[in-house]
Amino acid sequence: MARIAINFRGVLVICLCWAAVMAEAQNEKYKDPKQPVDDRVEDLMSRMTLAEKIGQMTQIERAVASGQVINQYFIGSVLSGAGSVPATNATAENWVDMVNGFQKVALSTRLGIPIIYGIDAVHGHSNVYKATIFPHNVGLGGTRQVDPGLVKRIGAATALEVRATGLHYTFGPCIAVCRDPRWGRCYESYSEDHTIVQAMTEIISGLQGEIPANSEKGVPFLGGE
Ligand SMILES: *[C@@H]1O[C@H](CO)[C@@H](O)[C@H](O)[C@H]1NC(C)=O
Repeated sequence: MARIAINFRGVLVICLCWAAVMAEAQNEKYKDPKQPVDDRVEDLMSRMTLAEKIGQMTQIERAVASGQVINQYFIGSVLSGAGSVPATNATAENWVDMVNGFQKVALSTRLGIPIIYGIDAVHGHSNVYKATIFPHNVGLGGTRQVDPGLVKRIGAATALEVRATGLHYTFGPCIAVCRDPRWGRCYESYSEDHTIVQAMTEIISGLQGEIPANSEKGVPFLGGE
């Protein structure tokens, strides 16, 4: 009899815990995609400690990123600076494994906020071994053909390769109108002629997809959603 009583109590405890977990999940408005974005942001912000806010505003370089650092400091974002790769001649799978490793740790932190991983995919996903390499922006602008459709397709191809390595976004693109060649990154400018640069901004809709019809200002979108 005693054993039955204990078992019953055990079941009761499990039931109570489960009810508490469900109640907590229902209260986690920030995790509910059906809630309005503003409400979710407000809910999440109200839960965050100062340390978590600082961590989330911090982007660290891959070379110093580790599960331990992400866990300890609630790091929001990781980047690959120029030439910063997980291994020499790393495959797409190596990249995905690296990002997934960081992501797993981020999702296991108190609030479970995912990390975002960014890279300079300039002239293609150029840090990645065997990625498709396109001409630098100055070369594309230099064609003078002003073929925005071509540049848009370059953006779409680059986005596909970035995503295939598990990364979430690419910095830029650079739409500087370079007027002084002493600037060390003039090659990232399409032209000194702003009309060419304007036409080449089509690369943006190639990279991130078209702006959705019902797009709310200030809300990010990807692939038309
Ligand atoms: C990386 O690839 C290059 C070119 O394919 C090759 O020459 C080099 O030996 C490779 N390095 C390593 C460490 O695999």
